Amino acid sequence: MNLAAPQQMAARGEKIAVLTCYDASFATLCEAAGVDVLLVGDSLGMVLQGAGDTLGVTMDQMEYHTRCVTAGTKSTLIIADMPVDSDRTPELALGNARLLVGAGAHMVKLEGNKDEVVRHLTGHGIPVCGHLGFTPQSVHELGGYKVQGRDEVGARKIREDAIALQQAGIGLLVLEMVPAVLAKQVTEQLGIPTIGIGAGPDCAGQVLVLHDMLGIYPGKTPKFARNFMQGAGSVQAALAAYVQAVKNGTFPTTEHSF
Ligand code: KIV
Repeated sequence: MNLAAPQQMAARGEKIAVLTCYDASFATLCEAAGVDVLLVGDSLGMVLQGAGDTLGVTMDQMEYHTRCVTAGTKSTLIIADMPVDSDRTPELALGNARLLVGAGAHMVKLEGNKDEVVRHLTGHGIPVCGHLGFTPQSVHELGGYKVQGRDEVGARKIREDAIALQQAGIGLLVLEMVPAVLAKQVTEQLGIPTIGIGAGPDCAGQVLVLHDMLGIYPGKTPKFARNFMQGAGSVQAALAAYVQAVKNGTFPTTEHSF
């Protein structure tokens, strides 16, 4: 694992292929397929636990699944989500982030512009990934699963939050469900890589929820996802097709963008 790898890839124009992952078997398959980064997402509340949102996911569960993913990989960069409320204060966040790092995460991800928390974590040597745009832990405050930053006020806030998070020390930024044009602006204004999900083709990398890209989530498939199992024949082939499509820029297209 090389924490600087995503930055180096972005610098040479190579797209970063990221997938969510929650267990050792899939982690091994993803690593073999060349997925660059695995995100132990709190989306596990939806795709593993069958909940309607991520709000019931606990630190114990995140630690457990981070250990599972760690056990299935040798060299892949692992990011673990800080679940809801685990990052309420800088001190609480530091204790919880250390648990995730102890479970094998190389970086933790937290939602929203919590620049004070980020500064505290990075100041104590914990690498942090930010997450702006649609932030699932705020689904109720945001009025549901909606594209963010469509108007100029909202777009300016996302651009400003991205700068504030970068200044606080994040090493990567996930942009979820924002217009492609806004994701491009944010990507161009930052010195760190952006990872898009429903954020158009111009981010430095892409992430999808594993169950969406394999077409095995029984709930609604988001517009921004593609089912890579179609025509693939095996899970291994679908994972490899995803990596290839991200790398060669054939995913996402305008069909998957806002
Ligand atoms: O939890 C998750 O899977 C995520 C991705 C949607 C980026 O945060």
